[in-house]
Amino acid sequence: MKKKLAVAGVVAVGVALFSCGKSQYANTDLPPKRIKVIKDYGEDAAQMLLSELKKELKNALKTKGPVGAIEVCNKRAMEITREVEEEIGDIKLKRTSFKYRNPLNKPDKYEAEALTFFEKTLKETGKLPPYYIQKLDGEYRYYKPLKVQNVCLTCHGDPKYMDEKVLQKIRELYPNDKAIGYKPGDFRGAIRVSIPEEVIKEACL
Ligand code: HEC
Repeated sequence: MKKKLAVAGVVAVGVALFSCGKSQYANTDLPPKRIKVIKDYGEDAAQMLLSELKKELKNALKTKGPVGAIEVCNKRAMEITREVEEEIGDIKLKRTSFKYRNPLNKPDKYEAEALTFFEKTLKETGKLPPYYIQKLDGEYRYYKPLKVQNVCLTCHGDPKYMDEKVLQKIRELYPNDKAIGYKPGDFRGAIRVSIPEEVIKEACL
């Protein structure tokens, strides 16, 4: 009898932890419906930015070559970010990384917490979590992690194997560049989507 009770107790605690515990990928306890709405908003916005950036990058590499493409990234990355913000409305977007090229992409303390979460989990489990959510004062933040692919190495790879002219151009435009030395599969950084709390609350009604 005693044993049965003990087992029931363990099961009850397990269920409570499972249903009420913090989401694995959030800095606070949030109802599943709210997590879903934040995820949907955040993921859509991040994908939109990614696809616009990739389109421009692909085009620039094809028509102007790698050196010309750096100038395009330099001039257009921030503009494209603002354009996507305008198109979606109500949200703010940023690309951020501990090893940033453009100093405007340097992480603030919340972004640093999210980047650390991704790095730490990748190191401990060998897997990059699909997202991270933060609740801050008046806003939710959704983070989408980015991995390095082969195409990125032209401008973010090991300098030993990079084109000398590409390196020169990067150094000229970004004298304090930290964004080189990556290998395929490395964690590169994240897209941060800030969404006002009211927008999420309305969607959750
Ligand atoms: C043609 C060169 C080029 C290629 C290829 C390239 N990047 Fe970049 N990347 C840049 C430049 C230049 C910047 C700085 C943009 C700015 O000034 O806003 C940058 C910035 C970034 C940033 C913002 C953080 C920071 O360091 O400032 C991320 C994240 C990033 N790149 C990821 C990638 C990924 C992932 C790929 C591959 C899918 C990639 N890049 C391919 C040139 C390139």
